[in-house]
Amino acid sequence: MKRTADFLKMKGKSEKIAMITAYDFPSAKQVQSAGADVILVGDSLGMTVLGYESTVSVTLSDMVHHTKAVKRGAPDTFIITDMPFMTYHVNREETMKAAQALMQEAGADAVKVEGAGDIVQRVQELTAAGVPVCAHLGLTPQSVGVMGGYKVQGKTAEAAQKLLDDAKAMEQAGAFMIVLECVPHQVALSITKALAIPVIGIGAGAGTDGQVLVYHDIMRYGVGRTAKFVKSYADFDEEGIPAVQSYVNEVKKGVFPAVEHTFTMNEEELDRLYG
Ligand code: KIV
Ligand code: NA
Repeated sequence: MKRTADFLKMKGKSEKIAMITAYDFPSAKQVQSAGADVILVGDSLGMTVLGYESTVSVTLSDMVHHTKAVKRGAPDTFIITDMPFMTYHVNREETMKAAQALMQEAGADAVKVEGAGDIVQRVQELTAAGVPVCAHLGLTPQSVGVMGGYKVQGKTAEAAQKLLDDAKAMEQAGAFMIVLECVPHQVALSITKALAIPVIGIGAGAGTDGQVLVYHDIMRYGVGRTAKFVKSYADFDEEGIPAVQSYVNEVKKGVFPAVEHTFTMNEEELDRLYG
């Protein structure tokens, strides 16, 4: 399993870091066997697997539950779990308890928190307590209500400078990695160059130290329309829906199960049973 120091080394060698989300046992198994460097148990699971409107509805117990399943599926891959909305904002104590649940109870190797400002101090405190923290800047979906939608961030010179300052503050606070979401590629590149810690982009162009995508977007699994930055490598909806339809039709027509799906008792036992 790769560890925090390995990601730093990868950046040093310009070796790209491949991160993918996983939310359950089978997807975690696939992601591990595909050789991903890091798994993110993202709170995007709120939308992709729980059907919520946004990540704001996701609870700590949701994240514990899903991280446990991912850990069982990918015991040899570094796992970062998102700290959900409002679990790292109230005070130090609540933040520590939430991180404890994710690492000790669920099996995460690190946690991810969104935003800067007051969160910089939380990152400091978590790091001091031995919790590796990945920061998340740019588009921060837990703040969708404040941002007024999912929009590209850091498009003006001022906003880009603020992002760079926030990223440096996060590195200074002890973050071992930063996820940068939905920012112009030039801004992402300059932040990547300015930091010693790896920057993982999503909708941040090709210049970052690595990329992260959501599993269900990669697979086109129940996602509908996807963002501009998504590339899908399979189309499970296109294959999966007709597969389920075929099953339903075959059951209704009596075509399934066929002989090869059926167990048979031998004649002697049948005789003993029914004479
Ligand atoms: O929850 C998530 O999937 C994320 C990624 C989009 C970075 O935070
Ligand atoms: Na997230």
